[in-house]
Amino acid sequence: MPSSPLMRAVVALAPGDPDVLEVREVPRPEPSAGEVLIRVAAAGINPVDAKTRSGAGAGKFLDELRPASADLAAALARDGAEPTTPTGGGFPWVPGWDVAGTVEAVGFGVSRFAAGDRVCGLVGFPRAAGTYAEYVVAHVSQLSRSPRSLTDIESAALPLAGLTAWQAMADAGDLETNRRVVITGASGGVGHIAVQVAADLGAHVIAVTSTENVDFVRGLGAAEVLNRTHGDWTEQLDAPVDLVVDGSGHDLRAAAYATLVPGGRFVSLVSSARGEPTPDTILAPRVFVAPDGLELQLLTGTIERGMLRPHVSATFPLEQAAEAHRQIESGTTRGKIVLTVGD
Ligand SMILES: NC(=O)c1ccc[n+]([C@@H]2O[C@H](COP(=O)([O-])OP(=O)(O)OC[C@H]3O[C@@H](n4cnc5c(N)ncnc54)[C@H](OP(=O)(O)O)[C@@H]3O)[C@@H](O)[C@H]2O)c1
Repeated sequence: MPSSPLMRAVVALAPGDPDVLEVREVPRPEPSAGEVLIRVAAAGINPVDAKTRSGAGAGKFLDELRPASADLAAALARDGAEPTTPTGGGFPWVPGWDVAGTVEAVGFGVSRFAAGDRVCGLVGFPRAAGTYAEYVVAHVSQLSRSPRSLTDIESAALPLAGLTAWQAMADAGDLETNRRVVITGASGGVGHIAVQVAADLGAHVIAVTSTENVDFVRGLGAAEVLNRTHGDWTEQLDAPVDLVVDGSGHDLRAAAYATLVPGGRFVSLVSSARGEPTPDTILAPRVFVAPDGLELQLLTGTIERGMLRPHVSATFPLEQAAEAHRQIESGTTRGKIVLTVGD
């Protein structure tokens, strides 16, 4: 175990714009039974990190089980910081759910991992986890060994986006039956992994992207690429499809329903898609990603077979977390961006 009880972490004392993110010293967590302490090498950045920082996103879940923000507020108060009381809604908050790093110590009963193992995972989502820090604790059920063929930076890009892609296609989308699939937002964090996984599973992948990402997306294994910069992608399709996975971050239902065969599925990732009527002939499940170490292991297997590789287009040190949030909020990130921690 590290000797200091403190660690550096990115903290948002209250919700707000990216500049609320600052690096502070906070208490280092300790692993409980079934958990490991991870020395963080890299933390993946996701749109939900920025949405939650702004006061939306997963904000309502942060403190659901454990009043993490109260603990943190008390610790910061001891450190002389303002504000010294929780502002509610899970703040103060250390952002981040995606992690890759090395196991530093294990809690009671942990036999699956040992100190020194390289691991990655989606930690605790949607409750507060705090991977934008030097250390984080995670339950072993949410972790996988990091793929040998990936760096820690690449491994940190995998969990949330990869699990979302898997749960959207294999679970909600029933890709085994629905073989002709459109993936929108195909160059983004979820989309670029979804294209590779669907192609590896033998689906006919039709990817929707913008001009600057056409070659990138074609290189991921899409059978067809539709260029949304050139106009309505639904009119560029030559035949109906079985499944649309909407990774655009927008609600493309209105257009997408017309592209589906009867019994086809539209899988949405955004909450605005809830509560709207669906045509009788269409199924429209909505995915809310869940941590799952076994599914993550499945994805790392695909990586080890050389059929999947997360693309990291930029990295940022902890001190530039605000810059990273501005980038992810732009909606134009190719692949993933990652926060680097430590040396
Ligand atoms: N429900 C869940 O559990 C869950 C999990 C993960 C993510 N999400 C949500 O899913 C969305 C995608 O996540 P992500 O990490 O992949 O985001 P991202 O990395 O920002 O990628 C989104 C991609 O969508 C495309 N796009 C942007 N504006 C568009 C528009 N107006 N019309 C069509 N396509 C557009 C862009 O790619 P092109 O230029 O290639 O078109 C962009 O790269 C976000 O809203 C995120 O919060 C939800």
